[in-house]
Amino acid sequence: MKSIIILIALLISVVFIRLNTEAIAEDTSAVKSIILPVIEGELKEGAGKDETAAFCNICHSTDYITMQPRLPADTWSAIVHKMIVVYGAPVNEDDSRTIINYLSSTYGAGK
Ligand code: HEC
Repeated sequence: MKSIIILIALLISVVFIRLNTEAIAEDTSAVKSIILPVIEGELKEGAGKDETAAFCNICHSTDYITMQPRLPADTWSAIVHKMIVVYGAPVNEDDSRTIINYLSSTYGAGK
């Protein structure tokens, strides 16, 4: 009699453990997705705006540009090169020249 009770208890616990692990497996395999907000800063019109918007928006918003005080061309050049050399911005020589010209003429000192 005792062994029958033990056997029944064992069966119940096996079923319980199975149900529990299935529930856990279901939870962790669930695919969840989130939609990240699109942050678009407003850049002034000018030649090179598109390149600047494309490359300077990859890691941070273009607010990093528009929040700066009006800077001389040398400083913009140094900033763009810092983004490339230090942070790894994927900007080639041609595009970096276009971007520096755009920044100096639209956000340059005295503008
Ligand atoms: C590969 C990533 C990356 C790209 C692409 C990038 N930046 Fe940055 N930028 C950074 C990081 C990292 C910082 C530092 C953020 C901080 O200190 O909070 C930064 C900071 C800045 C700052 C703040 C001043 C400073 O020197 O720290 C300016 C201005 C700036 N970036 C301009 C630009 C411009 C212009 C471009 C386009 C040529 C650009 N960034 C592209 C990563 C990037």
